[in-house]
Amino acid sequence: MNEPRLSAIPAQVPTHSRDRLGRPLRDLRISVTDRCNFRCVYCMPKEVFGKDYQFLERKELLTFEEITRLARIFRELGIEKIRLTGGEPLVRRNLEQLIAMLAAIPGLDLTLTTNGSLLKQKARALKEAGLKRVTVSLDSLDDEVFMRMNDVDFPATRVLDGIEAAAAAGLAPIKINMVVKRGLNEHSILPMARFFRKQGHILRFIEYMDVGHTNGWRMDDVVTAREIIAMIDAETPLEPADANYRGEVAERWRYKDGSGEIGVIASVTQAFCRDCTRARLSTEGKLYTCLFATNGHDLRVLLRNGAPDREIHDAITAIWDRRSDRYSEIRTAQTAKLQKIEMSYIGG
Ligand code: GTP
Ligand code: 5AD
Ligand code: SF4
Ligand code: SF4
Repeated sequence: MNEPRLSAIPAQVPTHSRDRLGRPLRDLRISVTDRCNFRCVYCMPKEVFGKDYQFLERKELLTFEEITRLARIFRELGIEKIRLTGGEPLVRRNLEQLIAMLAAIPGLDLTLTTNGSLLKQKARALKEAGLKRVTVSLDSLDDEVFMRMNDVDFPATRVLDGIEAAAAAGLAPIKINMVVKRGLNEHSILPMARFFRKQGHILRFIEYMDVGHTNGWRMDDVVTAREIIAMIDAETPLEPADANYRGEVAERWRYKDGSGEIGVIASVTQAFCRDCTRARLSTEGKLYTCLFATNGHDLRVLLRNGAPDREIHDAITAIWDRRSDRYSEIRTAQTAKLQKIEMSYIGG
């Protein structure tokens, strides 16, 4: 089903721990809420995430102090980037406070993935708090298509207002994530590419994935990265560009005329597990070593039982040392049916 990329990570940072496949821990993605004001059909289908759905209770969520303490320990373990996710991270109250606390940790790239719905009012405060850049999800410029995908009648123009506010606040570079699902929005690929080439933001196309176990994923619904590249290249010629850093999730392509770049995130057809340096922390403090994991490791219990930093540090090291995840390389129609964690819970 997929062709793994060949590059493996060389042994260049001997001081930090490596997992069983030799991969260091570089990236921490922190989910700050399991709630979202959208109901994207590929992520939080309304039939499952309806009125009666039990989201986490307040006391279950890690506090900002707990998140920051863990982030400092992860920094000592070698992480270089923190990405805040959700659900929708901007629905967590006073998120700017958390950003200010995390921004005080030296040497970190601090960013956030959002659906953009609240960006217009929050962009400036986020920047002032110390956020460096944002990635905004947007699946179509066509309101009818976009509303069918977000399922809460949210118009694309309001997301565009958010993107504009983020640019004005200096949250750059801005990246746009578009999930492509066959039969829903493949006709939006070219209009999106044209629009964001003009705007100068980096649009990335994401192959529809079998995250969670509620989105009814089928391989037939995946529009492959190759198809997407071919479609855009036929209109405006593209050439491959080098990765910005080893293990970059998106494969970069630039327009031959120098007018910008796009990316494809081909987790289904070209797995990138070999270079995967990402750990994910859930809203309630569980550590997951893969987006497609079925179980997490409870760090909150350590925090709330008074464990000293050293003990938490050692616990994380032990979890990472044992890691051997490579889900996208071994995906089959059967694994797609596993009871994996939901994307809205772990944040992509
Ligand atoms: P930058 O390069 O720092 O901009 O970040 P990024 O490309 O990691 O950012 P982003 O969070 O926007 O990732 C884009 C999307 O790629 C996510 O929303 C996921 O859908 C997908 N993705 C990210 N990491 C992984 C991963 O480890 N495995 C898989 N299968 N998909 C991933
Ligand atoms: N497949 C691919 N990407 C997904 N996202 C959410 N669900 C899926 C899925 N099933 C994306 C969102 C957002 C990021 C958090 O993950 O669109 O860009
Ligand atoms: Fe959509 Fe993101 Fe909300 Fe999921 S978390 S429903 S992808 S906006
Ligand atoms: Fe990493 Fe798991 Fe994604 Fe592979 S499937 S890249 S191991 S998160």
